[in-house]
Amino acid sequence: MTPVLEVEGLVVEMRRHRVAFRAVDDVSFALEPGSALAIVGESGCGKSLTLRAIMGLLPNRGRLISGRVIVDGVTLPSDARGRGRGHRQHRRMSIVFQDALSALNPVATIGSQIAEAPRHVLGLGGAASRARAVELLRLVGIPDPERRYHAYPHELSGGTRQRVMIAIALSSDPSILLCDEPTTALDVTIQTQILALLADLRVERGLALVFVTHDLGVVSQVAERVAVMYTGRLVETGPTAAVLSAPRHPYTSGLLAAALDVDSPEREPVPIPGSLPDPLGLTSGCSFQSRCQFATPECVTTDVRLERVGPDHEAACLHSDVLAAAQAAGRRG
Ligand SMILES: Nc1ncnc2c1ncn2[C@@H]1O[C@H](COP(=O)(O)OP(=O)(O)OP(=O)(O)O)[C@@H](O)[C@H]1O
Ligand code: SF4
Ligand SMILES: [Mg+2]
Repeated sequence: MTPVLEVEGLVVEMRRHRVAFRAVDDVSFALEPGSALAIVGESGCGKSLTLRAIMGLLPNRGRLISGRVIVDGVTLPSDARGRGRGHRQHRRMSIVFQDALSALNPVATIGSQIAEAPRHVLGLGGAASRARAVELLRLVGIPDPERRYHAYPHELSGGTRQRVMIAIALSSDPSILLCDEPTTALDVTIQTQILALLADLRVERGLALVFVTHDLGVVSQVAERVAVMYTGRLVETGPTAAVLSAPRHPYTSGLLAAALDVDSPEREPVPIPGSLPDPLGLTSGCSFQSRCQFATPECVTTDVRLERVGPDHEAACLHSDVLAAAQAAGRRG
């Protein structure tokens, strides 16, 4: 199947204290229509900037150094900030951010905010765009949509506001939805409902999904493929089931060990030692070296890249076979 979205060699440079660093470093992936990819990693590893670069929404201190974003076979034009020039293919993508309250206009009704894209992007008249907004409110599971159309953001619960954000994202009729931690601020029950809504939208509308999260626990609920990100790079990618059951990068296995496992509540989570290195202080070799129990002198000198470790499964680790052997020994013991 032809991918609906291809991201090739994305490199984003950020500046801090006038020093530039690569916050996104050579990120590539492809997404087929209706498929979903989860991008997972600790805070500061470059997940949001990856989505922003794809959308052409880099912050002022960011620069797109290289890379291409291809939607339905068409390469999107962009300037050095990664900003698109209103290309119609850009409208095939929408983004949902984590913080619905600050993303919504507090002095406009939610209905009028949803109706904006049908009116200005799709060119519908006033009555038709209002009808479309009501239909979208219904689609995202908001009861009594005709009445709720007139509500203001502060009158709604966090879960309902996030549903409104999804309705706004859908209002320009995209085929790709980029979600940046859309459920992180919500309690578990509401989170499950929003994830179910996204799953329905994939089936009903053939939406392709990129879902960013720092929570490995939600990955298998939301996506059949996962990409694990560390210091701006993808360090492991593959089918979710394979990556979660037999990770081939020590960072992924560390994230799994650090996560609560609802199926084995007796297992104590074990945090990964140390913290994400300061991107301004990165040295040569593998960026996980200071936290990795498998590190050898080779890891300090070799520029490690993604390599095939299984069917459709890649990891950027010189010693992924040692990790596999340790896992096998652990299972036997
Ligand atoms: N507007 C900005 N100005 C300067 N540096 C930034 C800016 N936004 C992000 N960065 C830096 O770029 C790197 C990647 O940030 P990004 O926001 O993409 O991380 P993230 O993986 O989304 O983290 P989180 O899980 O906390 O949202 C970090 O080092 C961060 O400090
Ligand atoms: S390359 Fe070396 S330091 Fe990096 S994750 Fe693999 S074993 Fe650890
Ligand atoms: Mg983020």
